[in-house]
Amino acid sequence: MEVVILSGSKPIAALAADAIGALLQRKPDAVLGLATGSSPLPVYNELALRHERDGLDFGQVRGFALDEYVGLPSGHPESYREVVRREFTERVNIDPANVLGPDGSAADVPAACRSFEDALRRAGGVDLQLLGVGTDGHIGFNEPGSSLASRTRIKTLIEQTRRDNARFFGSLSKVPHHVLTQGLGTILEARHVILIATGAQKAQAVRDLVEGPVAAICPASVLQLHPHATVLLDEAAASSLRLADYYRHSYENKPSWQGL
Ligand code: GLP
Repeated sequence: MEVVILSGSKPIAALAADAIGALLQRKPDAVLGLATGSSPLPVYNELALRHERDGLDFGQVRGFALDEYVGLPSGHPESYREVVRREFTERVNIDPANVLGPDGSAADVPAACRSFEDALRRAGGVDLQLLGVGTDGHIGFNEPGSSLASRTRIKTLIEQTRRDNARFFGSLSKVPHHVLTQGLGTILEARHVILIATGAQKAQAVRDLVEGPVAAICPASVLQLHPHATVLLDEAAASSLRLADYYRHSYENKPSWQGL
C-alpha cells in the first residue's frame, strides 16, 4: 500500500487524474471503477477539465459504479446512477451505453447482483478503481462486518452512514436503509485501487485502514491485501497516522520511473 500525503484536494485530484491519463494512454478502452460521495468529485472535475482542455479521450472507456441505493425511483437525483452521470460521465465523451451500475430497482435483487458481476467479468475486470472511505471505514457500501471475500450483494446501512449521507437527501428519513454494493472480494480484483480521503473526520478510518489489523470491523483494511493500492490523503485525514513521516519520506524519494 502506498500512502501519499498532499496539501489538499487539488493536488490529490491532479495526481489521480495523472494516473487515469497514463492508463488511458496505454489502454484506451480501460475499465474505470467509479465511486460516488464527495471525495472523488475533484478528480471528476479535473478529468472533465482535461477532456475539454487537452482532449483526454474517453471514447472507448467502460465505467462500472461501485454501489447503488435500493428502491429509489429511476432518475432520482441521488441515485448513484444519476450522480455518476451528472458528476462525471456526461461531462466527458464516455458512451452512456458503456456505463453500468448495480440495479437498485430490480425486482430480483440477487439476480441483478449476479448480472452485474457477470458484466464486470465480461468487460475483463476493473483496471483502476476510485474509492472514498466512510467515517466507519466502509468502502463502496461494505459496512463493518462485511465478509472480506464478499461479492456484489444487498447490504443494510449503519445509522452513522445514513446520517453522513443525509446531507445529500435533505433529511435523514429520506435516506434508504438498503443498498447494493460491489463486495470486498470484487473490489480486491481491480488491478489498481486509488482511495481518496480528505478532512479530519476521516482521520480515524484512515488510521484503521492503513495501520490497523486487517479486520471486518474496518472493511477498508482489506486493501492491505491488495498488491497495488494507493491511498491519497490531505494533511487532516493523515493526522492520526503513526508512520506519516515515513510515507512522506518514501514519496519524496520515489524513483521517478515508478508512477503511481
Ligand atoms: C458513501 C459511498 C462511498 C463513499 C462514502 C464516503 O457511503 N457509498 O463510496 O466512499 O460515502 O463519502 P464522502 O466521500 O462523501 O465522505
